Amino acid sequence: MTAQAATQVIEAGEGAIAPGAAAVERAAHTLAAGGLVAFPTETVYGLGADATNGAAVARLYDAKGRPSFNPLIAHVADADAARALAHFPPGAKRLASAFWPGPLTLVLPKLAQCRVAELATAGLDTIAVRVPSHPLARAILLAFGRPVVAPSANRSGHVSPTTAQHVLADLRGRIELIVDGGPTPMGLESTIVACLDRPVLLRPGALTRADIEREVALAEAPPSVASPANVDEVPIAPGALASHYAPRARLRLDAQRVEAHEALLAFGPTPAAGAERAAAVLNLSRHGDLIEAAANLFSHLRALDASGATAIAVMPVPRAGLGEAINDRLERAAAPRL
Ligand code: TXA
Ligand code: MG
Repeated sequence: MTAQAATQVIEAGEGAIAPGAAAVERAAHTLAAGGLVAFPTETVYGLGADATNGAAVARLYDAKGRPSFNPLIAHVADADAARALAHFPPGAKRLASAFWPGPLTLVLPKLAQCRVAELATAGLDTIAVRVPSHPLARAILLAFGRPVVAPSANRSGHVSPTTAQHVLADLRGRIELIVDGGPTPMGLESTIVACLDRPVLLRPGALTRADIEREVALAEAPPSVASPANVDEVPIAPGALASHYAPRARLRLDAQRVEAHEALLAFGPTPAAGAERAAAVLNLSRHGDLIEAAANLFSHLRALDASGATAIAVMPVPRAGLGEAINDRLERAAAPRL
């Protein structure tokens, strides 16, 4: 995303928590228009985007300057809304009823009818879901009525923001709106528990291991997912969880021409030579727009994989801006399998 018009801040009144109904309405309206809205949760400030809008999600990664598409947490108003996104195994049900609303994120099997954009879940078959307890976050989620993906509202590599001033310092001019609810009560990110096979603690956070273990027995996390030093930069789990996205078809990167039996993932106005004999063709962005390309990346890869082609030729994608993250994901998807 290129710099936006000035970021607006809706300020908290004298020590007040809620800037009021007008702020909530504006936040919901901005999200519906594909805008980026920072808002307080009980843990840290989140940078929200409409989870069902792939282009808005792509702008969010761009605003944060994330070098790769780390999957995002979908925030919803209540457990009913969460059940529209994911399957809840018994352990997850217990954890949700004990700790929601609150600082618990559950990584769960994604439902086929889940409307969250593929880019937000980085093409995984799992989804991270959380019901925050902060009254402003809840009010915005209720008013908006759709899931909101929200990573911590900092530039990639910086620490999570616990005040609106922190958000402004990192993201001024890159997002549309900051709703200032004063300092966040907990100041530490949510605890993440994956409930796929057996419950596994993926990220220590505002709830302790003991809190979680009062409800469910935790399995040992594989070494590669245990407490990464910088949880914001290291995609937790994707490499270690069985659900890591990898197309069945082989990917051939930086392809200049299409070979027989290949599908083509194109980029830009001019398809690669031989495109007419491709088994299937999809274009990440005819206009060469990296935000559009990011929004289409995972869904196009899946669709080409489903076409039955045994290989997918991928045209070169520039490395500028979001192109770095797009290339990161393409390289991972192309890496040899074990
Ligand atoms: O407290 C919080 O959780 C804050 C507030 C804003 O809700 N959000 C937050 O988001 O900390 P973020 O994006 O900074 O961290 C989310 C972590 C990332 O490390 C990501 O890799 C992991 O959750 N994650 C998301 N979806 C995942 C999935 N399907 N499988 C494994 N890890 C996942
Ligand atoms: Mg973060």
